[in-house]
Amino acid sequence: MTGDDVLDLDVDGYRVERLGPADAAVVQRLYERCSDYHQLEEGIPTRPGAAAHLLAALPPGREAADKYVLGVRAPGGELVGVMDLIRDCPDRNEWWLGLLMLDPDVRGSGLGGRLYRAVEQAVRSGGATSIYLGVLEQNPSAERFWRSHGFQELRRQPYTAASGHQSRVIVMRHRLA
Ligand SMILES: CC(C)(COP(=O)(O)OP(=O)(O)OC[C@H]1O[C@@H](n2cnc3c(N)ncnc32)[C@H](O)[C@@H]1OP(=O)(O)O)[C@@H](O)C(=O)NCCC(=O)NCCS
Repeated sequence: MTGDDVLDLDVDGYRVERLGPADAAVVQRLYERCSDYHQLEEGIPTRPGAAAHLLAALPPGREAADKYVLGVRAPGGELVGVMDLIRDCPDRNEWWLGLLMLDPDVRGSGLGGRLYRAVEQAVRSGGATSIYLGVLEQNPSAERFWRSHGFQELRRQPYTAASGHQSRVIVMRHRLA
């Protein structure tokens, strides 16, 4: 897939659009509302600079063009979610979903599922064959969410968060082809 707008989507009135470094402050505010997730991943509440790190960090050998940090805006314009995707990762025509995180106020009403299906459809139309992700063992509700959307477990491995907190991650794949 090429082009900056492949993942510009409308999902039931929510706008999904690519974010960049200039959006760090608004993403950080969302991150702070999602401190529950950071506590789970890092063993501490949201760190200052966490959003700037998400917007800038790249896996080894990747370029900024391969990384899509997507913001989810409510009909009123408020940022209520963020998603992070890397294209051609681990292999060509495969995508790695690094994060899907919604404001606690909009969880549990089907939005996450609709967003995932819209992204899945967009990358599938561009020739994607699989989507991968890692879900923390200590996040069983997210594991249930991903399994319900077609992800299957590939392996489990140790995971060290940026804070140094250690846990284990379940690597999963959703085959599209
Ligand atoms: C995981 C997440 C993206 C799912 O989006 P959502 O809009 O809440 O989910 P939906 O309403 O489409 O689907 C509901 C399912 O999601 C799962 N889920 C995960 N976390 C949940 C939460 N905090 N509240 C409600 N459902 C949650 C459950 O499996 C639920 O199914 P159930 O009702 O049978 O238990 C969202 O809850 C979230 O942002 N959680 C915190 C961050 C996170 O854990 N991200 C995943 C990292 S791998």
